[in-house]
Amino acid sequence: MRFTRLVARGFRNLEPFDLPLDAPFVVLHGENAQGKTNTLEALWYATTLRPLRGHRPAELLGWDAPLMEVAVWSDRDGIVRHRRVQLEGGQRGLTLDGKRCNDLSAWFEDLRAIAFTPADGEVIMGGPELRRRWVDRAAFTARPAHLDIVRAYQRALVNKAATLRADRPDPTVLDVLDEQLASLGARLTARRADLLAELAPHVRQMVSTLAGQPSDVTLALRTAARGTSVDERAAALREAFGAARRAELRRRRTLVGPQIDDVVVRLQGQLARRYASRGQVRTLVLALKLAELVAARERGVVPVFLLDDLSSELDRARTGRLVGLLGDLGAQVVVTTTDPEHVTGDRRADAVWVEVRDGRLVTG
Ligand SMILES: Nc1ncnc2c1ncn2[C@@H]1O[C@H](COP(=O)(O)OP(=O)(O)OP(=O)(O)O)[C@@H](O)[C@H]1O
Ligand SMILES: [Mg+2]
Repeated sequence: MRFTRLVARGFRNLEPFDLPLDAPFVVLHGENAQGKTNTLEALWYATTLRPLRGHRPAELLGWDAPLMEVAVWSDRDGIVRHRRVQLEGGQRGLTLDGKRCNDLSAWFEDLRAIAFTPADGEVIMGGPELRRRWVDRAAFTARPAHLDIVRAYQRALVNKAATLRADRPDPTVLDVLDEQLASLGARLTARRADLLAELAPHVRQMVSTLAGQPSDVTLALRTAARGTSVDERAAALREAFGAARRAELRRRRTLVGPQIDDVVVRLQGQLARRYASRGQVRTLVLALKLAELVAARERGVVPVFLLDDLSSELDRARTGRLVGLLGDLGAQVVVTTTDPEHVTGDRRADAVWVEVRDGRLVTG
């Protein structure tokens, strides 16, 4: 799929704009603090209805703007769709192809985008919850039903936590909840593990390509739900819950289960979180996201790839290989950069160039 046009007003520091995007490669360039990332964020927000940088949606409104509106046109196999999102007085309004839209699954249907920002290094360096969020989001991109399992598991977990906090936790209620958590948790971890197995060869290939040398990368799910089949995983969880019951009653909180899973990423056999350099971390996270893109492409939808700060923390050689790789993947790519000269070779010809200066977008 491809975005063909982006229109916005009242969005952060940006002047109202109407930007044609109908090109395989879109380069938003300019000096620091001009509005490049904000432009990328407008596109991301209209796609996912979530801010790019972990902000609250209200922060997307320009400081003096009473309302914010972003509209995006997408084309998938010749089917053009138009989405418009408005924020005003804390209310969000959505329009899909000119009609009010209250059905989020209709909004997200056939929209696929993957974003990479410098803050994503945290996926490697930060706590396990960031890696769980990544793996669950990637599993959702692969199979949207994953979200239902995550939510059902979380509901059961909330019930169990409330039961453990009660004056006299009821053991039969805990048994029922643990059984639910074991069966949902087994399916949840099986999907996480399947996704990691699907992505691992692509990640290895991406890291090798970006680094310019064969690189050994492994992704492993660390979970109490050990096993190869869903049944084995459920049995392992039942056993873990049983073993933890006394400690959970004593501490009045849940202690084991997929809610504390981690994804262990190793580069050349060493724990990336502990030993990777900044450039290696960035290379790894880029590879995780590009692997998602390749996996999605194999399933028939090519997501749009949004890349904030093309060259930060990558040396010239890696940046050059990244630009080449992005070209080979066949996805529409939207990048921001302070150094447009990083975009070289064939890419220059098929790119739309947009200079962002003081909140104004100038194409050409
Ligand atoms: N809600 C807002 N209203 C108005 N201006 C805002 C708002 N939020 C952020 N800004 C300002 O927008 C300007 C541009 O921010 P942006 O992150 O897009 O810069 P950039 O061009 O990506 O710069 P860099 O190269 O440093 O990443 C910043 O000066 C920022 O303070
Ligand atoms: Mg920026």
